[in-house]
Amino acid sequence: MSHHGFCIWLTGLPSAGKTTIGRALAPRLKARGYNVELLDGDEIRTGISSDLGFDRKAREAHAGRVTYVAKVLARNGVIPIVALISPYRTSRARARSEIGRFVEVYVTTPLAVCEERDVKGLYKKARSGLLKEMTGIDDPYEAPEHAEIIVDTLDQPPEAAAEQILRDLERLGFLAPERPASA
Ligand SMILES: Nc1ncnc2c1ncn2[C@@H]1O[C@H](COP(=O)(O)OP(=O)(O)OP(=O)(O)O)[C@@H](O)[C@H]1O
Ligand SMILES: [Mg+2]
Repeated sequence: MSHHGFCIWLTGLPSAGKTTIGRALAPRLKARGYNVELLDGDEIRTGISSDLGFDRKAREAHAGRVTYVAKVLARNGVIPIVALISPYRTSRARARSEIGRFVEVYVTTPLAVCEERDVKGLYKKARSGLLKEMTGIDDPYEAPEHAEIIVDTLDQPPEAAAEQILRDLERLGFLAPERPASA
């Protein structure tokens, strides 16, 4: 199957649900015949971004490297699913202009809920002063203003969020609508 690649870029606060939704979305796209690669910010920080910290410059560099990988994949017909806090509008705008075919998905989970989930215990550490530069606490999260897709994780489980994204991608013309197999 040949098709143009495009990038699905999940942004949101720590513990918003980006990784979880990305993991629910990838197999659904694969089942439709697409080549998919999940680019998770945490995983990339153990590899090509292992030299980077969390100040603004480092976060922008991290996003820049992820952007490059996503661009290379997308131009070869793959759908990269990026799961990255990507807190700055400038980084996301750069990703959009470099990659071209780009769908920004804002995982809108509010700070209070993210803090309750606190998957990695980082909010707790930040609140007790053990961790600096925590997004949402002492580092800004600049919410998207024109995301193509907005996902709410309070009123639906991750699987439903993934299904919503598929429907929205069809609506936006990035995916062919699912048709029953022809007889
Ligand atoms: N509808 C939902 N969608 C996604 N995650 C949900 C949802 N409801 C509850 N959760 C839970 O919220 C948590 C989200 O954690 P996850 O690691 O996916 O966040 P993240 O955005 O990738 O955070 P980080 O930026 O720190 O990597 C998980 O424990 C998940 O089970
Ligand atoms: Mg994650």
